[in-house]
Amino acid sequence: KAAQPEKYDYLFKVVVIGDSGVGKSNLLSRFTRNQFTLESKSTIGVEFATRSVSIEGKNIKAQIWDTAGQERYRAITSAYYRGAVGALIVYDITKETSFENVEKWLTELKENATADITIMLVGNKTDLADARAVDTAQGLAYAQAHNMTFMEASAMTASNVEASFLQVVTDIY
Ligand code: GTP
Ligand code: MG
Repeated sequence: KAAQPEKYDYLFKVVVIGDSGVGKSNLLSRFTRNQFTLESKSTIGVEFATRSVSIEGKNIKAQIWDTAGQERYRAITSAYYRGAVGALIVYDITKETSFENVEKWLTELKENATADITIMLVGNKTDLADARAVDTAQGLAYAQAHNMTFMEASAMTASNVEASFLQVVTDIY
């Protein structure tokens, strides 16, 4: 028997960006497959995964795109951002440079994505509290100054991962 085609009311493309190693691929795998990999390899090119969520009785298919943080592994940027209605900019709360580079990612996003894209800032790896280098207040202040929502999360413990993606999908909707 053939599988029924999946029915959905909306399809939202959401892109995940941020420095290499901040945990983009693990946030994606946690949200779409409830999987975490301790020693994951750097992403090469572009990958995407989907998960359907229900908001106000509507079935929304979130198509989450993940690319390499490393320049040399990245695919054509304009194609990556094309059609995206939401974005997660991710940094690692234990790596100050990854937070400083949020500005660079925001610039790239603004240059390539549609002007009204919904953006969320995510500080990942809250499980590594002892190694924290970026205060929650810093992340929040930056997000507020640039019209983004903000959350801290951990792909490892799954803390706030679902909440982050649901927040961005709800904001788009
Ligand atoms: P690129 O693909 O190179 O851009 O990196 P990425 O942002 O996709 O990072 P990735 O998800 O591959 O994670 C990098 C490393 O950080 C891996 O060893 C992960 O296991 C680890 N990692 C990811 N999320 C967390 C987290 O929440 N907590 C901890 N402790 N480690 C994490
Ligand atoms: Mg990756």
